[in-house]
Order: sequence, then structure tokens, then C-alpha cells
Amino acid sequence: MASVIIAGVGSYTPERVLTNHDLSKMVDTTDEWIVSRSGIRERHIAAENEACSDLAVKAAQAALADAQVQASEIDLLIIATASPDMPLPSTACIVQHKLGIPAHATCFDIAAACSGFLYALEIAYGQLLTNRYKRALIIGAEKLSSVTDWTDRTTCVLFGDAAGAAVLKKVDQPGIGIIGSDLGADGEFVDHLYIPAGGSRCPATAKSVDEHGHFIHMKGREVFKSAVRVMETVAREMMEQYKVTPDQISLVIPHQANIRIIEALAGNLEMPMDKFFVNLDRYGNTSSATIPLALDEARRSGRIKPGDLTLMVAFGAGLTYGAALVRW
Ligand code: UT7
Repeated sequence: MASVIIAGVGSYTPERVLTNHDLSKMVDTTDEWIVSRSGIRERHIAAENEACSDLAVKAAQAALADAQVQASEIDLLIIATASPDMPLPSTACIVQHKLGIPAHATCFDIAAACSGFLYALEIAYGQLLTNRYKRALIIGAEKLSSVTDWTDRTTCVLFGDAAGAAVLKKVDQPGIGIIGSDLGADGEFVDHLYIPAGGSRCPATAKSVDEHGHFIHMKGREVFKSAVRVMETVAREMMEQYKVTPDQISLVIPHQANIRIIEALAGNLEMPMDKFFVNLDRYGNTSSATIPLALDEARRSGRIKPGDLTLMVAFGAGLTYGAALVRW
């Protein structure tokens, strides 16, 4: 029986670091408030001339090197992003060209917000199993600083820029790699987290710019409650479906939005916090990039060893959510 494995992982964060102290000079906030309400201490911000695709390319190069796979061998490229270089064409086509991925490859973006990396993982997993593709590159890449309202203290303290990537391939060995994946969405909560302008509902006008319509708008408390609920549900369903108990999971890699969300999830699942990988203190919420960035750090720091079972779990605007179980 064949399996699909994560053959390599890579990530990239821009050079510039913006601390809570820096933010306290920009809006009416304090380091104490941001740390106690979110756990975030600093985030990385891309340079003006760095776009989503530039971050994606660097993460992809690291993942390709880690997997010892050439760009010329990739035949499926999926980029999950909420902050593409431009509405048209896809950031995937821009990244394809920059990396030198061949013209016969299938390249597209998906919009699933912070759950985007897990959406990309499931799509690539299914496609590789059909034998239609041989090697997939999936990337979560965000320049959220370009859609952040830097005058809104309720959102601007939360987000950062980053990219993370993974190379997936099929191997003839049962029981390793992606054991299972589950996704979901609940469109009832569309207005809890959204960018109102810039699409066909509200095209760009001087008024939409004046009204800050091109930035992220969020009902923080509502998102918080939904996040804990859906992540717990999808994590439980995943474990039940694949007959896995919490003690068999060596590491949970949750979407990095707020330490209090992760603590609530750990409490509800009755799992100790030391099983949850956390790096949001240094990067903030980088949307679709949080999981591959955390995965890369977890692997490099020795938190994931061969044979380990990890659970990745995410939620995001939409409301989208997902989970994936991976045996290394
Ligand atoms: O990937 C998904 C993305 N989004 C999320 O995951 C967000 C989920 N939600 C959250 O993480 C939290 O709801 C926040 C961190 C956004 C906010 O924390 P909270 O404990 O829910 O605070 P709150 O929104 O209830 O605000 C409490 C107070 C308010 O003042 P009043 O009305 O009590 O006087 C806010 O105006 O804190 C005030 N406040 C701030 N004060 C200082 C809001 N933002 C700030 C700030 N600095 N940056």
C-alpha cells in the first residue's frame, strides 16, 4: 500500500522585526496588553519591495533542498494565501516562474485563510494518491502587513509576514506520512473575519480606501470562541476516525493565532501544553504560513523524530478549519 509523505519542509521570515514596544509607539497599546491577551511579543514584517511570492520562493527553496527534490521535478504547485501578489494571475504562477517549475505543472492558489496550508495538504494528498502527479509543492505564504490596518489596535498587534512550504511525494510503504486529513467550513461566520473591499462586491474606489475597506476587519471575541470550538471538534473527529488516543500523539502543531486559544484547546482535549508547539510569541499570526513555519521549526529543533505521530489543526476566516495526522 502506498503512502504520501512530507519529504521536506522549509520556511522564511522577513528580516525586519516589529516588537510590541515598537507598536506601542504606533497605536494606543502596551506590551503587557498584547502579551497577556495574545502571547505575541514580536512579528516579522516584509520589506516594501518584498511581495507574497518572494517569501514563498524562499520557503520553497528551503523545502526543496530539505527534500532533495529539484524544482524541475514538481508537477503540482498549490499556494495558500490571503495576501496574494495581485488578484490576477495566481501567486502560484508567479512562483512557478521564479522557481523554474516546468510548464506542464498544475499551479494554482487556494483561498482558505489560516486553514489554507491544511487545505493545500489535503488536495495534494488526494492528487498524489491518484497517480496524476508525482511531486507536489505546497506553500502557505502571507504578506499580511499589506492588508493590516496599522491604525486599528484591535488587529494590527496580531499579524505578521512569513512563508512555509512542504514537498509531498508518494512512497510504496504503508503506515507513514499523511494518515488522514479532514477539512470543513461554515460560511455562517463570513463577517467575523474579512476584507470588505477590493473584490467584486466592493471594487476599489477612493471611498473604499478612505474607509479602510482593504484591510482585515475582525470580531475578535467571536472568532476566538469559534476557533476553540471547531479546532476541538475537528481534532477529536480526526483522532476517533483513525483510532488514535491523545497520548499517542507526540506533538500538536496548531494554527498560531493566540496562546489563549491554544491553551483552551489543550485544556478541552485534556492534553498537556508541552505537547503543543508554540512559536507565535516570535512571529504573531501569519495565517496560512503558521503551520508550515511551526512544522519547520519543530523538525529543526528535534521536536519531531522518525515514527512520531503529529496532529496539525487550524481554523481561519470563512470560517474554515481542518486537521491532519502525520506519521514521520
Ligand atoms: O487566524 C484567525 C485570526 N484571528 C484570531 O484568532 C483572533 C481571535 N481573537 C483573539 O485573539 C482575541 O479576541 C483578541 C486578542 C483579538 C482580543 O482579546 P480579547 O481578550 O478578546 O479582548 P477584547 O476584544 O474583548 O478587548 C478587551 C479590551 C477592549 O476595551 P474595553 O471595551 O474593555 O474598554 C478593547 O478596546 O481591550 C481593548 N483593546 C486593546 N487595548 C490595548 C483591544 N485591542 C487592544 C490593544 N491594546 N491592542
